[in-house]
Amino acid sequence: MKHKTILIQGAMDIEVKYFIHQLENMQKHIIAGYEFYTGYIHSLKIIISKTLVGVVNATTATTIGIMTFHPDIVINQGIAGAHKATLHIGDIVIGEKCCNINAFSMPTKQEGCSSNPFEWEPNKRGKEIQVGNTILVNIFQDFFKSNYEKVIYTGILGSGDVFNREFDRITWLQKQFNHLCEDMESIGTYSVCKQFQIPCIGIRIISNNELINEQLDKEQSITLQKLFIEFLQNKTV
Ligand code: 5AD
Repeated sequence: MKHKTILIQGAMDIEVKYFIHQLENMQKHIIAGYEFYTGYIHSLKIIISKTLVGVVNATTATTIGIMTFHPDIVINQGIAGAHKATLHIGDIVIGEKCCNINAFSMPTKQEGCSSNPFEWEPNKRGKEIQVGNTILVNIFQDFFKSNYEKVIYTGILGSGDVFNREFDRITWLQKQFNHLCEDMESIGTYSVCKQFQIPCIGIRIISNNELINEQLDKEQSITLQKLFIEFLQNKTV
């Protein structure tokens, strides 16, 4: 990763603010309403992008970020909800793969026949699996496993514009997509990076688990940013 330019994304203020404070020679750029902060961390050129929440925003911000700053690597990071009972707040998921868990086809039903989302099936886009960069997966697995005490998972990030809070819905989704957690941005990033052929990785820290009643803790995003800063400082990148 030596001399590489790295674009690091977070959707919300809390997911980027620690990074921004660490940037040397920080400059703020606003493009079409999207905020980008350029600067250096240990002589690495870093662009912090506040994508805003949701797949459309993440897709737009990734496209603008790539076309404006020409990064060598894109990292999408932030908080996510666990979709398996075994994951706890503070655990980290490395997105070896990513899929759109909000893309379905459904049988026709006439007026008055109600709606049964459990009859829906992932459509073409739901079945499409995006792949994270293998080298980045391995680098981050090694780093997190030796520098963080909680559990590190490698697997599928589920992504879509829904914050699911129903036990039965979550377990049904998990059976369909086999993902570990749910966020609202990573699928946008993976899809755009694939088109531009730029290595990308999504890394999420668990902030909530509706299955075991662990309630949303947005502060987890600070822990993840601190780990990334440690990574950028310590690694020979
Ligand atoms: N479902 C969907 N998005 C979640 N996020 C955290 N937990 C969840 C969840 N259970 C993330 C999204 C979005 C914001 C609401 O936090 O990526 O940016």
